[in-house]
Amino acid sequence: MRKSVLLVTLVLMSLIWGTLLVADDEMVVPLGEITIEPLVEESKRSAVAFPHGIHFSYSCEECHHQWDYTSPIQSCTTSGCHDLEEAPKTDDGKLVKDPDEQILYYKKAYHEMCINCHKEIKKKNKAMAAKKASLGEKLLPTGPTSCIQCHPKE
Ligand code: HEC
Ligand code: HEC
Ligand code: HEC
Repeated sequence: MRKSVLLVTLVLMSLIWGTLLVADDEMVVPLGEITIEPLVEESKRSAVAFPHGIHFSYSCEECHHQWDYTSPIQSCTTSGCHDLEEAPKTDDGKLVKDPDEQILYYKKAYHEMCINCHKEIKKKNKAMAAKKASLGEKLLPTGPTSCIQCHPKE
């Protein structure tokens, strides 16, 4: 008798947990290529093919710096994040200098993250190549830093 009550309780509990778990906190992680589309309709450059999975030697929060580890990761251009379609300007049309505001411009955010990291690695490789002692050492793999490599001609 006691056993069956326990069993029913367990079954009920797992049902409740089950529905809670599939509700809002499931996250699908794209492993292959993500196409990063421009926010603006009349873009100057083509969309960018971003090989997500080959970046997984880094920790997720290297890029998803607002992730709380419990809710699904949000898009970079989520409202209130890097969602400005243009560089922020003052009333008299000058570019806002404050880096905390500039980074809300989605292009600035992407360029700063993507290009800076690839450039840093290239710098390290240059330094390595310049040192005779590192002869024979393998250069580090890195990603594109020139416009056309990320934004191919359409
Ligand atoms: C490492 C990859 C990378 C490189 C290199 C890169 N970009 Fe981008 N760029 C992006 C990403 C990602 C976005 C955001 C998605 C989009 O708008 O296509 C973007 C957005 C843009 C945008 C805003 C959207 C548009 O098309 O109007 C412009 C303009 C742009 N890039 C120009 C350039 C220029 C010019 C260079 C070279 C100086 C360059 N990019 C180099 C990745 C790159
Ligand atoms: C080098 C940077 C980088 C790393 C490291 C990285 N991601 Fe991403 N991830 C991105 C970018 C850029 C996107 C596209 C975001 C967008 O479209 O706004 C993305 C998209 C995603 C999405 C889809 C979000 C959406 O828009 O629905 C998920 C989920 C995700 N990443 C999970 C992860 C996990 C888990 C890890 C760690 C194993 C990880 N990422 C590591 C850059 C990265
Ligand atoms: C924290 C460092 C870091 C960040 C941030 C980063 N990358 Fe990379 N990226 C790398 C490294 C390292 C490689 C080389 C990986 C390999 O070959 O194993 C790479 C490779 C690539 C390649 C592949 C080049 C090839 O030869 O196949 C592309 C394309 C690329 N990155 C685009 C991007 C874009 C677009 C972003 C921003 C959304 C970005 N990366 C952000 C470090 C970074």
